[in-house]
Amino acid sequence: MNSQDNRNIFLTTPIYYVNGSPHIGHAYTSIVGDFLTRFYRQQGRKTYYLSGTDEHGQKIAQTAEKEGISPIELCDRNSALFRALGERLNIQFDDFIRTTEKRHKDYVVKMWERLVQNEWIYKGTYNGWYSVRDEAFYDESEIVDGKAPSGSPVEWKEEETYFFKLSAFTDTLLEWYEQYPGFVFPHGRFNELKSFVKGGLRDLSVSRCTFSWGIPIPDTNHVMYVWLDALFNYQSALDTPEKFKHFWTDAKVMHLVGKDIIRFHAVYWPTFLAALECTPDTLSVQAFNKACGHMQIVSHGWWLSNGEKMSKSLGNTVDPVELTEKYGLDYVRYFLLREPSFGSDANFTNENFASRITGELINNIGNLCQRTFTLAHKSCASTVPSVKVSHPLLEVNLEEEMKPFIEDFRLNQALEVVLTYASKANELVQESKPWALFKTGEQQKGEEAIFILLYAIYQIKEAIAPALPEFHARISNVFNNESFASGVKLNPLPKVFEQIATS
Ligand code: MSP
Repeated sequence: MNSQDNRNIFLTTPIYYVNGSPHIGHAYTSIVGDFLTRFYRQQGRKTYYLSGTDEHGQKIAQTAEKEGISPIELCDRNSALFRALGERLNIQFDDFIRTTEKRHKDYVVKMWERLVQNEWIYKGTYNGWYSVRDEAFYDESEIVDGKAPSGSPVEWKEEETYFFKLSAFTDTLLEWYEQYPGFVFPHGRFNELKSFVKGGLRDLSVSRCTFSWGIPIPDTNHVMYVWLDALFNYQSALDTPEKFKHFWTDAKVMHLVGKDIIRFHAVYWPTFLAALECTPDTLSVQAFNKACGHMQIVSHGWWLSNGEKMSKSLGNTVDPVELTEKYGLDYVRYFLLREPSFGSDANFTNENFASRITGELINNIGNLCQRTFTLAHKSCASTVPSVKVSHPLLEVNLEEEMKPFIEDFRLNQALEVVLTYASKANELVQESKPWALFKTGEQQKGEEAIFILLYAIYQIKEAIAPALPEFHARISNVFNNESFASGVKLNPLPKVFEQIATS
């Protein structure tokens, strides 16, 4: 995204499957989206942030059956857990859609009818591999040791199905990709995807008739393939003409996804959208430009637990609710945003967690706040001093300095900008020793130092607000919720950061 771009932003998380409870991967996506949303809002951009739950398909039906409850009971129960997680993590979603809602089902049926009308759908028989866990079809060439590339088990399927003419899109899609190099972040993953498409796309089975937990296709005994159903949540949620115009037609659309679901978002989704604009005879790059020229797929890596893939069977999953209860929300948000090089995998260990929080938040930013506010209360009458002073720290606008990093999704480096600035402010404390200045009667000089340090803290709490909303609220309260200026009265300082248990 470039700095001149002032369009509204529509940011989405994937909609989460409700066959299990939320884990750290889900929390991560939602926190990244929340961080970006808060940042864009701070920059004055109008932003709409959407999340929700993906509730149809064979996987959900099978899980409900195993639990001895109906699919909708399972969905109601687990969708509520995902919604509650969002609240617990202080995520500001503008809407939370469930694919079992009427507004969604009606919308998908309408889109299906348009795809049929545009002659993209035909009836046939599917013979091939399917993974229920991934809810995905795989080509013979992709099967490794009898498993899907993701490692999920696959089964052979032979059933009547409706096909979407995906194969017709291969060349046009590749041509469009070439014109739109920023479509998928990061670049390396985009290249992998292009190689997959270059191998030739096959028609996609978009209906199932061997189970019934899905959106019924009118006048048939089929239900919609769960990915066709799910992807349209990104439009069905914009359920008034105004919302659709502001946050789809006129907006920059950013779909935040994990690396495992890029194919669905960067191949199926744009082709479905382009297919709504044309017929097989009129297919062209323009159809893609019109339908998705404003869209970007932003993908992140996976969280590993002590170096291994998280899985229930290994018992090494990290529960975001437990973690938040143990350490507090800001620490969890900070670590998840700061640790990975965004786009790559990252490793969750208690040691990593403790060392980042202690070294970067408690010892650097926390220490700066503690020392500065203590002196401001003791020696500056709990007021931002009235002095005229110049200093390089006063020249800095941290939000502006972070901006280029955030625009490139280098989130860890954006936070590092704040840490480097805080370190410089701590150096100023060491060098100017304001406590000694006050002691030896050099009040003016002491006040100058405190003024600079208070300014630095103010900058830090604003710049870091999208990551640490609780810290921001605490420090804003010390500044009486006022803008930075001489004469502002300072409230007593609560504990800036709690120490964390290292065991
Ligand atoms: N329901 C589909 C998405 C449909 S969007 C139209 C789905 N759901 S999911 O619940 O299985 O996964 C949701 C997201 O969580 C995905 O982006 C996935 O990459 C992410 N993660 C799942 N495990 C993860 C980690 N261990 N680490 C980071 N993210 C991971 O796919």
